[in-house]
Amino acid sequence: DRSIKIAPSILSADFANFGAEIRAIEAEGADWVHVDVMDGHFVPNLTFGPPAVKAFRPHVKTFMDVHLMIAPVDAYIEAYAEAGADMITAHVEAGPHPHRTLQAIRATGKKAGIALNPGTPVEAAEPLLELCDMVLVMTVNPGFGGQKFIASQLRKIERLRQMIGDREIHIQIDGGCDPLTAPLVAKAGADVLVAGSAVFKGGSVDRPEVYGENIRAI
Ligand code: DX5
Ligand code: ZN
Repeated sequence: DRSIKIAPSILSADFANFGAEIRAIEAEGADWVHVDVMDGHFVPNLTFGPPAVKAFRPHVKTFMDVHLMIAPVDAYIEAYAEAGADMITAHVEAGPHPHRTLQAIRATGKKAGIALNPGTPVEAAEPLLELCDMVLVMTVNPGFGGQKFIASQLRKIERLRQMIGDREIHIQIDGGCDPLTAPLVAKAGADVLVAGSAVFKGGSVDRPEVYGENIRAI
């Protein structure tokens, strides 16, 4: 099923109202909820530990897509699975054994994804596809919302779509997705679009209809 899914990133949400924000974006049409976990080591920012993700869980009715921007990553896979993630995506750059990392995610029974930073060649995903439900192509350097889309990644998405062929593996893009860049990445072959600032801008828990307008505009 290659229909386009929108996965708002709660990194751009109101940090004092995560439960209400999650309910609002889902009521306004979000297909997935994208949770950006950052450790202040692999990326220069710090966000949610397993207890926070556990607190988000009861508010998520769609699909909780947990993006681990942490290194080393293997030690935390169990904890994020326990916290209730539906999909756990690790970075191929997080350590020397991404194949084993994906095996560990699969062993928890969760969906498994691998993420590629803008500087990582698409070939890095090739040997891992057999263990992936999704490949995340970063279209910004990870760490923050509101950054500019890196257009050179479009070629990588096209080549990844060729590599995947007719296998049921999602291509997720993440970073700088908005009404201008969304058509480009969809044409290139992405089917899950993460959007933080483009979804949350101008809205609030008191004005959730703006989230719906923003989601439909993507
Ligand atoms: C960046 C995160 C992205 C980010 C997207 O490290 O992985 O998910 O929150 O935010 P926007 O859509 O504003 O670029
Ligand atoms: Zn992300």
